[in-house]
Amino acid sequence: MDGYSLGYANIALVKYWGKKSKDPVLPYNPNISLRLDNLLSKTKIEKSLSNEDEFYINDEKQGPEEVNKMIKFISKFTPVAREKICIKSYNTVPTAAGLSSSSSGTMALVLACNEYFKLNKSTQEMVEIAKEGSGSSCRSFYKLAAWLEDGSVEELSCKLDFGMMVLVVNEDRKKISSRVAMEQCVQTSTTFASWVEKAKKDFVLMKEALKEADFEKIGEITESNALAMHETTTTSSPSFTFLTEESHRAMDIVKQLRSQGYKCYFTMDAGPNVKVLYLKEDQEKLHEEISKLWNKKIILCME
Ligand code: ADP
Ligand code: DP6
Repeated sequence: MDGYSLGYANIALVKYWGKKSKDPVLPYNPNISLRLDNLLSKTKIEKSLSNEDEFYINDEKQGPEEVNKMIKFISKFTPVAREKICIKSYNTVPTAAGLSSSSSGTMALVLACNEYFKLNKSTQEMVEIAKEGSGSSCRSFYKLAAWLEDGSVEELSCKLDFGMMVLVVNEDRKKISSRVAMEQCVQTSTTFASWVEKAKKDFVLMKEALKEADFEKIGEITESNALAMHETTTTSSPSFTFLTEESHRAMDIVKQLRSQGYKCYFTMDAGPNVKVLYLKEDQEKLHEEISKLWNKKIILCME
């Protein structure tokens, strides 16, 4: 699509779940993610043909709350005096289903603003800007990224070639956004403090495991970190969960395959869908085996 800027989804291996500061946005714990190159958003900005700012996702006009959220964000780094604009975005990733549309969408929006308003920002500057729109989006600028407690973003590397697939439980918009959910957990979860402690340790262990290219260790940390994050939802008040019976069935499939010798691990974000981490070289065989057990949609994220 001509003139569109691309932003990519990313999935955290060590999650960001809680803001230590909202302005600037700083995470409680350092976190690490893997970018998914074929789950993305494409965004273009045009002059609005009406006398109001507009925002479309997949040709669907967004309501005032979403428009205001986008405009409030872009007003932080675009000219104060400007004509009304129309933000046109297409998501190949399901929107607000726990598959990181906020990251891909925010990255694409920052790049589109850079083009339209001729801001001439460097990648580093855009990384800084992006996290004020959605924290996790700052990691989408790098294949493997770490977002640290002081707000800086580091590019990491690993010798392994990862693959990720999504066992789709539900592609619908979630009822509670990541932002609202994490804030509720920060405020009320009885396991929030222990989550932060664990996540800080997981971060150190994950960096080591990536350096050593120890896939088993990477997978184990990924799973236990996701489970600890999700525990903060059930221990919050009121208690809630993003996971459904089908999410648990998907997790069981991954465990079953692992007991049969397949190297695969699960992780879940703010939604019911289950992502499976594996080594790229195992993709074909693993996909074949998972397809026998999971009769719903599977998305291959890193082909
Ligand atoms: P997800 O799990 O998909 O990241 P979130 O609840 O964290 O879901 O974020 C969903 C929000 O991300 C949407 O309500 C919208 O504000 C933003 N978003 C989604 N797609 C786009 C897009 N293409 N451009 C800009 N923002 C987007
Ligand atoms: C569960 O980055 O969407 O996906 O900063 O409020 O926009 P805001 O939150 P967001 O939260 C992501 C939460 C997560 C974990 C992760 O990606 O690290």
